[in-house]
Amino acid sequence: MEWAEVRARVQTIAGMINDNEGRYLYILAERCGGNIVEIGSWQGMSTVYLALGSKGRGGGRVFAIDPHQGTLDFHEAYGVEDTEPIFRENIKRAGVDDIVTPLVMKSEEAAKGWTEPISLLWIDGAHEYESVTKDILLWEPYLEEGGIIAFHDALHSRCPGVRKAVYEYIFQSNRFSNVHFCECIVSATKVARLSTQDRLVKLQKLPLFFAFPSIYSVFNFMNPILAKVRLLAPARVIKDKILALIH
Ligand SMILES: C[S@@+](CC[C@H](N)C(=O)[O-])C[C@H]1O[C@@H](n2cnc3c(N)ncnc32)[C@H](O)[C@@H]1O
Repeated sequence: MEWAEVRARVQTIAGMINDNEGRYLYILAERCGGNIVEIGSWQGMSTVYLALGSKGRGGGRVFAIDPHQGTLDFHEAYGVEDTEPIFRENIKRAGVDDIVTPLVMKSEEAAKGWTEPISLLWIDGAHEYESVTKDILLWEPYLEEGGIIAFHDALHSRCPGVRKAVYEYIFQSNRFSNVHFCECIVSATKVARLSTQDRLVKLQKLPLFFAFPSIYSVFNFMNPILAKVRLLAPARVIKDKILALIH
C-alpha cells in the first residue's frame, strides 16, 4: 500500500504515534509475517499502522489488548474514558477490523491461557517500570526467535520506567540483538544466543540510548519557538536527517 494511503486511513485517529513512528511500525508489521500482539491500543492509531502493515504482506492477525479504561496518568490527562467504541469504529473505518482481534482486558488477563507464537510484540500499555516489566515477562516467552519486540516512549525523558525496563531486559539481555531506535521507539530482535559481535554492536548503541532523551527534549522544547518564526518545517527536515543517522 502507498504510504499516502496508509496516512489517509490513520489521519482521523487520535493517538500518540508520530508519522515517523507510524511508518516504522508499518514496516515492522509488513516484514514480520506472523501474529502481532499489541499491548495498549487506546483509540487504535498504532493498531491500524500494524494491521495495514500486516495486510500488506498478507500476514498474521493483530491481537489488540487494552481494557479501554485508561490508566492513572491517562485519567489525569483525559479523564476516565471508555475508548472501546471509538477504537472499534476506528479499526472498522480503516478497513482492518477483519484482521484485528480486540482483547478488551488487561495484558495480564490476556496472557492467561495464551498459547500462540508471536512474531511482533508491541508494548505501549501502562508506562510504569513495574507494568512494563510485567508485560515483558508475561509475553516475551511467546516471542519467536527472529521475532521483534518494540516499545514506545523508551527514549522519552518523561518515561523513566519504560527506559529502565528496556535497559535491563533488552540491553542487558543475552537474548536480544539488532537494537534500533525510531524517534521514541526502541526495537530489538530475539535471538537464540548473542554473539560477541552482536554484543559489541549493541553496546555501541548504549551511549545514544542515554543521550537521546536530552536531544529529543531539546527538539520538543524548540518546536513552539521554531513554529513562531516559521522555521518548523525546515527544522523538521534537519531533525529527520539527524535521527536517520542515529538509527
Ligand atoms: C499510551 S496509550 C496507547 C497509545 C496507542 N498505542 C496509540 O497508538 O495511540 C496506553 C494504553 O495502555 C492501556 N493500558 C493500561 N494498562 C494496561 C494493561 N495492563 N494492559 C493493556 N493495556 C493497558 C491504556 O488503557 C491506554 O489505552
